[in-house]
Amino acid sequence: MTPAPEALPLFVDGSRLIADLEHLGRFGVNSEGGIDRASFSPADGQAREWLTGRCEEAGLRVEVDGIGNMLVSSPESESESGIAGLAPVWTGSHIDAVPNGGRFDGPVGVLASLECLRRLHEERVPLRRPVRVIVYADEEGNYAHLLGSSAISRGIAMEDLARIVGRDGDRFSDTFAAAGGDLAAAARVRWRPGSVHASVELHIEQGPVLEQRGVQIGVVTGIVAIGGGTVRFLGRADHAGTTPMHGRKDAAVAAAEFILALPDIAADAGDTAVVTTGIIRAEPGGSNVIAGAAEVVVDFRDPSLDTATMLESHITAAASDVARRRGLEVSVQWEEIVPGARMDDGVRSAITATADSLGFSAMDIPSGAGHDSQNMSTLGPTGMIFVPSVGGRSHSPAERTAAPDTVRGANVLLGTLIRLATREERYENGGTPA
Ligand code: GLV
Ligand code: MN
Ligand code: MN
Repeated sequence: MTPAPEALPLFVDGSRLIADLEHLGRFGVNSEGGIDRASFSPADGQAREWLTGRCEEAGLRVEVDGIGNMLVSSPESESESGIAGLAPVWTGSHIDAVPNGGRFDGPVGVLASLECLRRLHEERVPLRRPVRVIVYADEEGNYAHLLGSSAISRGIAMEDLARIVGRDGDRFSDTFAAAGGDLAAAARVRWRPGSVHASVELHIEQGPVLEQRGVQIGVVTGIVAIGGGTVRFLGRADHAGTTPMHGRKDAAVAAAEFILALPDIAADAGDTAVVTTGIIRAEPGGSNVIAGAAEVVVDFRDPSLDTATMLESHITAAASDVARRRGLEVSVQWEEIVPGARMDDGVRSAITATADSLGFSAMDIPSGAGHDSQNMSTLGPTGMIFVPSVGGRSHSPAERTAAPDTVRGANVLLGTLIRLATREERYENGGTPA
């Protein structure tokens, strides 16, 4: 009798995976050794071109959807197995980086997924469902949190896309067009229910827990809801030397007072709530000019959508309160909150069983970072695998995951994909939004 495919001793080629990871880490390197590779930037374009080449060398097909997500499949293996029309098991992550970011957040999942698909294709592993790789566009939200997967999950209207401005003040529509994108095609992206048999993402933990506990594999239990947007105080620009302190409408001081109110808002919302202001801009930006306007970009998160919604209204109230007391105007523009997600029990069991069968230690762990998997969970059963981050460092050039940890994670991903793509049953209960 032919052994069940999940019993085959199939492993990734660890050296090939680590070499790919090193290669991808060359695109967008800055003078501090960090990575500047926002989606649709020239560095992102070069990375995509290289990645496309790696896929094609392996006999895989790459398509790019309307919003810039890359979709990689193995048409030959799919048609040989007669499964081409069935809903796939998706796996992937992102290759864009935060400003001055690291080499591992995203690329580990993308390149491990590619390595898994390559091994399945090379060995012509008989599957009951296609396994396909996805490289999500703009996960890091230079333009909008989880842009590519939000389009897949909910669609993004043309007017909303046209309004998006990037971190550097560029209009998404301009940068996207310069990278070859078409806004009308982007607005058409939305996957129908039933298009995802299951989805799994391998990612670095980005925190210290696995390393501190000496555990090799994290089985993610859930992902936080994420909200954010821009708070803009409008005061009056005046001379820094001649305007007395009492009559001023200093937008920078209002912004500072507002920022100082945020830790208490988070603390009042409970232990899991976090609020961050990583971008502050004062205008017109002269040391001898009182700021006439000041903008603060806010990011807030909690596992519960209700708490995230409450954070948004408390932050709005704090901004209005500061503006009223100081005689300034304020405007607030929030992005739609990306709901959190519980990871699917069936996918979690497949990950845990694979880690056990390979003799790796594993533990359940929540994710405080956002991931495209939270959007995928609205379309089908979804799970995530974490591997340790050295010193818990991430979103920094100091980000690192040891090669053996990366390879272990990739082997758990491969085993999990085989389990999910060879199961008889069809999942009907998609991941449950928290
Ligand atoms: C992505 O890394 C995020 O959590 O914002
Ligand atoms: Mn990431
Ligand atoms: Mn990140």
